[in-house]
Amino acid sequence: MNSGKLRRQTMGVCYYPEHWPEERWETDASMMVEAGISHVRIGEFAWSLMEPEPGQYDWGWLDRAFETLASHGLKIVLGTPTATPPKWLVDQMPDMLPVGKNGQVRGFGSRRHYCFSHLGYREECARITRALAERYGKHPSLAAWQTDNEYGCHDTTYSYSEAAEAGFRRWLEARYGSIDALNEAWGNVFWSMIYRNFDEIELPGQAVTQTSPAHQLDFRRYSSDQVVAFNKVQSDIIRAHSPGRGISHNFMGKYTDFDHYAVSADLDIATWDAYPLGFLEREIGDEALIKQYTGVGDPDFDAFHHDLYRTCGQMRNGTDNGRWWIMEQQPPGPLNWGTYNSEPLPGAGRLWVWEAFAAGAEVVCYFRWRQPAFAQEQMHEGLLLPNGEPNQGYHLCGQISKELDSIQATPAADHADVALVFDYESQWMLDIQKTGQDVSHLDTVLRTYRALRRAGVSVDIIPPKKESIVGRKMVLLPMAMVLADDFVDALEASEALIVAGPWTGAKDQNFAIAEDLPPGPLRRLIDIQVRRIETRRPYLPFPLSDGGSFAGWREHLILGEGVEVIETQSDGAPAVLHTGNVLYHAGRGDDVAQDRFIRRALTLAGVPWFDLPQDVRIRDNGKLRYIFNYSKKTVDMSAILPDADVAMGSMELAACDVTAVHLK
Ligand code: GAL
Repeated sequence: MNSGKLRRQTMGVCYYPEHWPEERWETDASMMVEAGISHVRIGEFAWSLMEPEPGQYDWGWLDRAFETLASHGLKIVLGTPTATPPKWLVDQMPDMLPVGKNGQVRGFGSRRHYCFSHLGYREECARITRALAERYGKHPSLAAWQTDNEYGCHDTTYSYSEAAEAGFRRWLEARYGSIDALNEAWGNVFWSMIYRNFDEIELPGQAVTQTSPAHQLDFRRYSSDQVVAFNKVQSDIIRAHSPGRGISHNFMGKYTDFDHYAVSADLDIATWDAYPLGFLEREIGDEALIKQYTGVGDPDFDAFHHDLYRTCGQMRNGTDNGRWWIMEQQPPGPLNWGTYNSEPLPGAGRLWVWEAFAAGAEVVCYFRWRQPAFAQEQMHEGLLLPNGEPNQGYHLCGQISKELDSIQATPAADHADVALVFDYESQWMLDIQKTGQDVSHLDTVLRTYRALRRAGVSVDIIPPKKESIVGRKMVLLPMAMVLADDFVDALEASEALIVAGPWTGAKDQNFAIAEDLPPGPLRRLIDIQVRRIETRRPYLPFPLSDGGSFAGWREHLILGEGVEVIETQSDGAPAVLHTGNVLYHAGRGDDVAQDRFIRRALTLAGVPWFDLPQDVRIRDNGKLRYIFNYSKKTVDMSAILPDADVAMGSMELAACDVTAVHLK
């Protein structure tokens, strides 16, 4: 049920009333209203205050926080506090702590100190969640829930604990039925790895060198399933006690250790935490990009996640109109966790928020209300300064709220003509068995996504599922390595342009090279065979005859009947192949090649595209088209979009500016 969907996009904030004297709460609540904030997330780290002694709850402070916020008409998003189990609980069951790959126990004193496989801890989480849901689940001001906080953050999806080992063995038994089947699937005849029973199997943490890639893949699948199961325990309890309130979780950027589509199947709202400058510094890590986009952020990285998590928001209700939010948005000020922490350029903070609204976010919540003067995050800006006075973010929040009033945009996002597959298993596979150091599925998908964005096209990121390609004009599958039969059937029946390669359909679900060679089952659609792949360092690209090159990865193929070579590599090897409604790219294009590939594909698929100035991006949503200027200079868009009917801003966009125009 898609309950509680909002009709107008709106602002929110993350608030920690427990960090401030109660006398201040009234002031905070009225200042929030003044800044146009409607939603306030609270509670997600407060277990040791909710239950200071085992079994003794103290709800007084939380009741009063609820009442203060409610009396100002604010809507509350309540977090379950399970990312921060109290010390007494850890002391009661020390084996709930996560264990690192090196066998070292990861201790108390920060957060996320639990192992997803520990069933005793899961029961404790069920208990505190039930207590919270019974007390606050029907509160009239409660709008939504957040389960836990950032599953997997600080590298916590994988735990090498005893609980994980026991759980893994039972999971394998259920998956394979017999040890012979497992030995066969993992290829255990290799290096004499044959097991006699499931209890002989260890976690793939401490072997001398690589364990079987299928063993590692199954450990990732198992660990991902534990996150799903852990989350489901909480979602089920909340759903039973808190009807009509959306259940959410806040995902992260560039985090792929568990299958987010699968976790989202138990959520009503997918949310994520967007920190553009932190990502640029720490997650993207490309010196050239850092140099180019310091202060504004990567024009495509956050946008990619908006499009990914919007799809996650559809996993439960199955509509094209999934609910998604930004649960934590970087304020227009420096963070504490980048390698370096620069301030945003003027306008950048506004640009980020509008990019999310343009992608259909219902709510954009700032992290956080007030910068604390104490503890780990004291150097992280908030909307207020540590002394409680407004900082820039406070004023910006008020400005955006007024703009939202005037523009009246709806949270819905359209079903895009173009869908790009991102698949967690393919990500794990290329991570487990690297043939080229910097090659990953995510990186390859991002390169493709960037080229689509540079062409001004709106995109949905989708899982490799048949339901997800219905009604598309173009489906792209770079490095989507395992393709289920029913998905290939759907691709075959689809009228969309299918853009495959490199390395699409390359493996089977046991991580073996596809029967009769890659692209495996896709050979039903295009009669080619990949006979060799080659990877090289970034400074040794593979040049292409028409300009640009393959970066880091290329394939050598042989072609069957009816396959046309439409581009070659400089040494004459085929680069781009075509047959019917299928294009195949035999490598990872650099930006020059990728732009050419994508624009050719869009033209073939009949999807309109734009020749945009550098660092300008466009997004369509409902009746509005948004234009974003991620560059540091003014751009005039009136020649590219003549006769535009401007809804917000101007056709001459200053650096970091955003404009919205009515779509005809
Ligand atoms: C997020 C986390 C928040 C806070 C924030 C700081 O990863 O969910 O609790 O730590 O980062 O940027």
